[in-house]
Amino acid sequence: MQAPAASEIEAALAALLPPGIAVAAASVAVAGLAPLLPAEAGPAQSMVPRRRQEFAAGRACARQALAALGLPPVALPVASDRSPLWPPGTCGSITHAGEWAAAAAAPLARLAGLGIDLEERAALEPDLAARLCRPEELASAPPGLPPDLWPRTVFSAKESVYKCVRTRVGRFIDFTEVRVAAGSGGRLRFEPAEATADLAIVARLAGGYAVTAELIVTAAWLAPMPGGNG
Ligand SMILES: CC(C)(COP(=O)(O)OP(=O)(O)OC[C@H]1O[C@@H](n2cnc3c(N)ncnc32)[C@H](O)[C@@H]1OP(=O)(O)O)[C@@H](O)C(=O)NCCC(=O)NCCS
Repeated sequence: MQAPAASEIEAALAALLPPGIAVAAASVAVAGLAPLLPAEAGPAQSMVPRRRQEFAAGRACARQALAALGLPPVALPVASDRSPLWPPGTCGSITHAGEWAAAAAAPLARLAGLGIDLEERAALEPDLAARLCRPEELASAPPGLPPDLWPRTVFSAKESVYKCVRTRVGRFIDFTEVRVAAGSGGRLRFEPAEATADLAIVARLAGGYAVTAELIVTAAWLAPMPGGNG
């Protein structure tokens, strides 16, 4: 039987994301024992045991999400920017936090890009909050969320944005380069903090957040361009 926190994470992700996106979550201790496929074994060789378990748990969740889309178990090799390489026709994202790993996957017909992130449900240290969040973000905690959780939610949302667009943008994006704002009902909006041409795509993302008993859960995604190539 699935651990309650895993089903809570899956429910939170499924509620955040648009319909038709497959999600999977699992305990790192259990899913981390799943075998890696040959194309994934190389990068795992240099990992310490705990990191290898986390990596394997993420891959196991990704394969479970892909299976829910009707796809066979395939390897997700590691790209040069450390992103997982999803099978043709799909996009997705992997995250781990503490004892938990999760993945989400979508056909490209439904989403052109996806990022998810889990963080522990705890306040961010004030000096970190000041480094990772912009003053206007810190001043705009949404109603309904414990205010001390908002800075870490903003941080997590930025990691979701990064995972969603990093490969497309082709460079590191600093935390202060993106502005996060809360909409109603757990929705998030994103925009480049300055008029940075290569970050214009950030304003096209949608996103959301939720909190479970143990975790902050965020996601950012890019809808397909009508009739376009993302
Ligand atoms: C890459 C990063 C976002 C990962 O987030 P994290 O909270 O440290 O770790 P998580 O467990 O949530 O996610 C790790 C997973 O992210 C995925 N990932 C790593 N690099 C990635 C990239 N360039 N693009 C997409 N996904 C990536 C991988 O699947 C990785 O797990 P794996 O190595 O086991 O496959 C983070 O380490 C980082 O470098 N952040 C700095 C840049 C940033 O976030 N800027 C925000 C401004 S928009």
